Amino acid sequence: MPSSLPLRERAQGRAGSGRRLFLRQFVRFPLSTGAQFPSSRWLARAMAQDLDPGRAGGIVELGPGTGVVTRALLRRGFPAERILALEIAPEFARFLRETVPGLTVREASAFELAAHLADLPFEGVQAVVSGLPLLIHPPAQRRRLIRTALLDAPCRAGSFVQFTYFLRPPVTELGEAVAVERTAFVPWNLYPATVWRYRRARET
Ligand SMILES: C[S@@+](CC[C@H](N)C(=O)[O-])C[C@H]1O[C@@H](n2cnc3c(N)ncnc32)[C@H](O)[C@@H]1O
Repeated sequence: MPSSLPLRERAQGRAGSGRRLFLRQFVRFPLSTGAQFPSSRWLARAMAQDLDPGRAGGIVELGPGTGVVTRALLRRGFPAERILALEIAPEFARFLRETVPGLTVREASAFELAAHLADLPFEGVQAVVSGLPLLIHPPAQRRRLIRTALLDAPCRAGSFVQFTYFLRPPVTELGEAVAVERTAFVPWNLYPATVWRYRRARET
């Protein structure tokens, strides 16, 4: 995209090519892409709303796709250098590298989270923010992911934020050490979505 274009036109062009890429990915890999379109700006904002760039730690984003949630984090005030994106699809990883300068993008599976938490490009993790289609994975694998993020040393995240298109939390039976709450319901999205926040119930 020519960098001589005004900012607004460049953003519109990027959004349009992002939506086309998303749809192409969905046609090829419906399960792992999880949706026909990127999340709406309202859902992206709801995912970022409780995170605070004034507090310590960076953000690890799982399944960023074309980066709509990433950009909501940037608008919230997180510098790109304080966000690590783990994306399994090479096409999305390339798009992110081209459109979000300064972001660390690793073409990797989110289920290798432990290795990435041990090798962060910044100090500490305020939150893991996930757009993964978690429900295609077995419950035990989902539980392991949340437990890795919140409970496993050496680098534990303060919270794990996840959206779903369902009204029930996507991961349950995590034991007493982890609490979950609904932080938003966003009707303006295809499909209407709920945002969930997992946290340590008590410091262990
Ligand atoms: C429903 S889309 C969400 C994209 C973006 N966060 C949004 O809200 O528009 C799911 C994303 O997760 C990615 N993904 C699926 N499985 C993954 C995995 N195991 N590791 C990393 N990314 C994965 C897909 O490629 C896709 O980008």
